[in-house]
Amino acid sequence: MDLKGRNFLKMKDFTAEEIEYLINLSAELKEKKKKGILHDELRGKNVALIFEKTSTRTRCSFEVAAHDLGMGTTYLDPKGSQIGKKESIADTARVLGRMYEGIEYRGFGQDIVEELAKYAGVPVWNGLTNESHPTQMIADMLTVKEKLGKLKGVKFVYMGDARYNMGNSLMVTAAKLGMDFVACTSAKYFPDAELVSYAKSEAEKSGGSVTLTESVEEGCKDADVIYTDVWVSMGEPDEVWEERIRELKPYQVNQKALDYAKDSVIFMHCLPAFHDLKTTIGKEIHDKFGLDEMEVTDEVFEGAHSVVFDEAENRMHSIKAVMYATLK
Ligand code: CP
Ligand code: NVA
Repeated sequence: MDLKGRNFLKMKDFTAEEIEYLINLSAELKEKKKKGILHDELRGKNVALIFEKTSTRTRCSFEVAAHDLGMGTTYLDPKGSQIGKKESIADTARVLGRMYEGIEYRGFGQDIVEELAKYAGVPVWNGLTNESHPTQMIADMLTVKEKLGKLKGVKFVYMGDARYNMGNSLMVTAAKLGMDFVACTSAKYFPDAELVSYAKSEAEKSGGSVTLTESVEEGCKDADVIYTDVWVSMGEPDEVWEERIRELKPYQVNQKALDYAKDSVIFMHCLPAFHDLKTTIGKEIHDKFGLDEMEVTDEVFEGAHSVVFDEAENRMHSIKAVMYATLK
């Protein structure tokens, strides 16, 4: 498998074999890290990390992974560069492409990261856009494989806002890998019809399936994985909170939803999660709408089925695999 020189912009661009290769490479690199085997084979290279939205996991994963591979990093924060304000994406891409072997971009529209990739002349990795979150996919599927021992035939249920980056990317990835993907939410939050039909055609080839349902019972019945994400994503206006709470509260991941699933069900979340009142936004929402927890209850988040911190750790191993495969 040769992915050298490739961009990593969205899951649509990759075949099932390529995705599986990246999952397996992540597992290999994870093992090396655990055993203390040095793997700094990319010494002498440097990568630029552009973050127009905030991040804990993705930024730290890119920095630690680059360091482990022997590479240097430059972090460009939302305010500290000329990007977008004084310099176009195309010009920025051509400048950074002269200095760095690879560029990570987290920001708004998918078109921006695609434009960056078009002009950079070096691999560009999407660290999250409104439409997709591909590096999260490799970590998530590695986690499912570690916990359940397989991907094919796994019933993977996504609850909440399935129209955004996480819902879109999980649907496409699961369909390509032969999983039974279910978007379990109010019809308004189903993924875009064109993407659903693409995912269904991929599922037909892989032996998987794509189902959209408004019924929690039907959606969660015999589930192997139940996944959710925040109800309001980065960059969305505060005004949408009220509507989201009203419309998505029935799709909160709670014990009742888990009871429909298999006993072996795992709960996943890309994080950060609103499961208690220990955050500023969590407290604000509590004061305004009286909710103690949002997309997932504290009971489920902290419970025996939750694998969210193993999943978060896997972000680092899988981002390392993406950089290594495209740069080595
Ligand atoms: N899951 C994820 O992308 O987390 P961060 O926003 O902290 O990077
Ligand atoms: N949908 C979330 C994902 C965070 C990792 C957001 O875009 O804010």
